[in-house]
Formats: sequence, structure tokens, C-alpha cells
Amino acid sequence: MLPRTPEEVRAFFDAHRTVRQYRTQEDGSPLPLPPEHLEVILHAAQRAPTDATAQLYSLIRLSSPAARQAVAALTTNAHIATASEAFVVCADVHRVSRLLEVGGHAGGDFPAIAVHFGIGDSVLAGQNLLLAAELLGYQGCWIGGVMNGLDGLIDVLALPAGVLPFAALTIGTPAEEAPHRPRLPRELVIHTDAYRPAAPEELLAGIEIMNPIAAREGKPGDWLRLLRSYFGAGGGMEGREPGLRAALKRQGMWAGEESAGPRH
Ligand SMILES: Cc1cc2nc3c(=O)[nH]c(=O)nc-3n(C[C@H](O)[C@H](O)[C@H](O)COP(=O)(O)O)c2cc1C
Repeated sequence: MLPRTPEEVRAFFDAHRTVRQYRTQEDGSPLPLPPEHLEVILHAAQRAPTDATAQLYSLIRLSSPAARQAVAALTTNAHIATASEAFVVCADVHRVSRLLEVGGHAGGDFPAIAVHFGIGDSVLAGQNLLLAAELLGYQGCWIGGVMNGLDGLIDVLALPAGVLPFAALTIGTPAEEAPHRPRLPRELVIHTDAYRPAAPEELLAGIEIMNPIAAREGKPGDWLRLLRSYFGAGGGMEGREPGLRAALKRQGMWAGEESAGPRH
């Protein structure tokens, strides 16, 4: 395949938009992808590089309206019900344990490593899938809202011990004009040879640049307010912490000192 020019590569990545409203069929049900499009995005997911050769992830493709509705409600992201395709991307160390088991070997005890490897592989496979979809002209949305309903998702998706939802992912044809959203200045994110802590004025300038990402309905954005609502004291992430800890314990992936659930 011919190499792309730097301009073409830049244009492709600049065309990325998170999109939450998709074209549907007339009755509001998902518009199916052509089978060859679905086939190649699934192929792309599986071609992702994988740590230790192990492919420690699973994708649950949500096909039935009931599964779509249930996961949309549990994740508080309604577009899971309307996207052309929707997946729950999971870290999965269950399968490697089964592979060892069928080969007559005992699995190891590595809950922290399981999370590290499983999340890494999940991200790589899911992002490969999204990029393939974008190459075909679709857009999508990663959905960390799985954190809002981990326990229910484990039930609804029948996830065995060793399998933990990382995020959901929707794909479809955009039915909204999503903006090109900013990113922090490169100097705050890319370091050379060693980590360089940022100066306060650089951080303040970064906040200014990021403010438009928080704009809603014509009102100017306040990114720091958004970050505070997520990551500040009493914010949403503190609220998610108990649910994630409980799910890690339930799935046998808790590496803390308190007693863990069943080992995968
Ligand atoms: C891991 C992950 C989880 C996300 N979770 C959600 C989500 O639950 N709901 C949502 O609407 N968008 C979600 N997003 C989309 C982000 O809000 C979006 O990527 C970010 O605002 C940057 O916008 P852009 O992708 O259009 O550049 C998520 C993105 C990632 C990578």
C-alpha cells in the first residue's frame, strides 16, 4: 500500500469527531452497516498489537434491541440504542486461564497485571476498530459511562470472573455536526527525555485553549469547571470509585489487601 503524505495523515486525524447522534432507520432503529464494513472493522480490532501475545480483551457486540436498551440505560448513554454498531469492550483474563486449563496448566495469580494488560489490550483493539470505522466514513463514541453500571453490566452480559468492562463503543453515520474539539498544547503532553512539570502560567494557558470543549448551547465553555465536576473533591470520579472497586473484587481482579472474590 502506498504511504500516505503527512498532510493526508493530519487530515484524517483532524476529521475525527466524537459523534453521539447517528442516522437511523425510519422507525428509529439502528441503520445496519453493510456486512463488508462490519467485517473489516472487526478484523481491524483483532489486528491490534497485543501484549505478551495474549489478546486479553473481549468485545461484546450488542445486537438485540433488548441488549442495546439495557446497556444504554446502565451506561446512561442513550445512543447505544441507536448507533449502527455498539460494543462493550472488556479486559479479559478469563480466556487465557481457560487456554491454560485446557492445556493442563494452572493459571497464575496476577490481579494487578490482569488489569494492566487487559485495559491496554482493550484500548488498542477498540481504537483500531474506531479508526477502521472512521476510514470507512463513519464516526463513533467511546463510552466510559460503563462505570455507572458495572454490576448490572456484569449480570446482563453474563461476564465471568476475569472479565471487566473498560468502555462501550458506538459507530454510525453522523446525524449531527460535531465540532472539532481542542487538545492541550503539545508542550504539556509530549516530554523530551524526562518528565517536565508544567509552570502555572502554561497550565492556565492550556485551560484557555481547552475551554471550548465545555461549551454548551451557545454558552462559552469552562473546562476547569468540567474537570472539577469529574476529578475534583466530591466529583463524579470519587462517586465511581466504590463501584469499580466492587467490580474488581467481584471479577477476581482486585489486587488490594482486602479479601478478593473468586480468582479467574
Ligand atoms: C475512554 C473514553 C470514555 C468516554 N466516555 C464517554 C461517555 O461516556 N459519553 C460520551 O458522550 N462521550 C464519552 N467520551 C468521548 C469524549 O468526551 C471525547 O472523546 C472528548 O470530549 C474529545 O472529543 P473528540 O473525540 O470529538 O475530539 C469518552 C472518550 C473516551 C476516550
